[in-house]
Amino acid sequence: MSQQPIPLPAPTDLDLNNIQGDILSGLPKKTQTYFFFQITDVTLFRSQLVKFIPLVKTVAGVLKDRKAIEDHKKKGDKTLITMVGVNIAFSHKGFVAMGIDDANLTSTEPNFELGQRQDAKNLGDKGTGDIPNFVPEWEPAFLQDIHAVILISGDSHRTVDKKLQEIKEIFGLAPSGNKPSIKEVTTIVGDVRPGKESGHEHFGFLDGISNPSVIGFDTSPIPGPKQVPAGVLVTGHDGDVGPTRPDWAVDGSYLTFRYLFQNVPEFNQFLKENPVPLPGLTPEEGSELLGARLVGRWKSGAPIDLTPFNDDPELADDPQRVNNFRFQAEATFAKMCPFASHIRKTLPRADLEDPPLNISIQKNRIARRGVQFGPELTKEEKQSGKTAHGRGLLFACYSTSIKNGFAFLQETWANNANFPPGGASTGIAPGLDPLIGQGNRMITGTDPNDPSSTLPLPEFIVPRGGEYFFSPSLKGLTETLAAAA
Ligand code: HEM
Repeated sequence: MSQQPIPLPAPTDLDLNNIQGDILSGLPKKTQTYFFFQITDVTLFRSQLVKFIPLVKTVAGVLKDRKAIEDHKKKGDKTLITMVGVNIAFSHKGFVAMGIDDANLTSTEPNFELGQRQDAKNLGDKGTGDIPNFVPEWEPAFLQDIHAVILISGDSHRTVDKKLQEIKEIFGLAPSGNKPSIKEVTTIVGDVRPGKESGHEHFGFLDGISNPSVIGFDTSPIPGPKQVPAGVLVTGHDGDVGPTRPDWAVDGSYLTFRYLFQNVPEFNQFLKENPVPLPGLTPEEGSELLGARLVGRWKSGAPIDLTPFNDDPELADDPQRVNNFRFQAEATFAKMCPFASHIRKTLPRADLEDPPLNISIQKNRIARRGVQFGPELTKEEKQSGKTAHGRGLLFACYSTSIKNGFAFLQETWANNANFPPGGASTGIAPGLDPLIGQGNRMITGTDPNDPSSTLPLPEFIVPRGGEYFFSPSLKGLTETLAAAA
């Protein structure tokens, strides 16, 4: 399906017909398939790519799709419209395999050049050996080289599977008579959770509330963190701190993928066994409060910085308030929100931006586009408190720097017990990010009446794979990647 230019939503210097759709708008999805592969015949692949490119959904295409969804809903129709969105991204190994000089992408991005399998050691993933021979404890598929990934999002497995079949035929993997130019490494399917849990990750918390809004693109941002210049997410624009980009590397973005398994029954069991001992709360309420203090939001999405002791679904539903807080309510004691809560670790707002530090964190913002995978909890898992079926998050995020974005958040913030520095005035280390922090896992400040008490944390999230990619522009795909070798 080719993309027709549509009217731009606002004056912007971004060419919305040139940027892949997932980067700025997120491909609309109820389900999403990640197809990881190696390129086995470069010349053939680059010629077959010509036939694939018209399938790629641009930002303009996504905006058109979102408008169609809105119009459909307005008619009161509860069915889903058939819809599919395809994007593609290449790893450094992929560019090397294709004989394309990607020095522009690697020169200031060591994580991208190293590849995530080796970088996993720096991220804190468990494994054996040292870089460049590090072997993380990952699924075997992710221990292989991955050259590229094709993302296919849609309304149903049927729609997505049909598109995947069409793509496989283009690259000669299906019985089309075409010679194959690629080899599948692995295919992973993610699904938005059913019913009331839609939009919630597997621990039960509403996700996708706080993502950077982009100057000139998002015209009516909800109150919250400062808007970012487009170059934080799209290469070659104001805010891109990388080198000057050649034409083919403009209007792209780095895609970080992480295959993150969540120990959900164990997480629930931990909350049950460690309720926050606030006077007046039942054990169940104390457990719920602990969960909220680990994440920084209640399951509804309401931030505990604004509603510290009770969930407030009305606040959660109010776009004017749900992201409008800065963690500045308490100077000394983390009464409102523990310094190490997941959302405070990954976007510390006033902790860094305000005096005395006045540090800009615009370059550390990432656009998160993940989706859940795996089944809902079974009765047996709920009863035993033990995981029997793999489930978690297909974590995906975009930025124009992995070094300042994902890797920085993971290594310098999440895995660092002394971050954010606001806690220093109390002499109490905040601890690790209780969800994603790797290392000596503990957190302080979960008990508002005893901010120095330390809570040791089991591992709730286990990384089992991943890779770094670059998602090129349509022009880059057409004129450089698909050009005859
Ligand atoms: C299975 C793994 C993860 C789970 C269950 C999870 C869960 C959540 C939840 C529930 C929120 C709050 C919703 C929101 O503010 O949009 C959130 C926010 C966020 N997460 Fe995660 N997350 C995971 C992995 C990660 C990773 C690996 C990173 C990056 C290293 C990350 C970075 C962020 C950021 C930047 C925010 C928004 C903070 C803000 O703007 O206030 N998350 N996450």
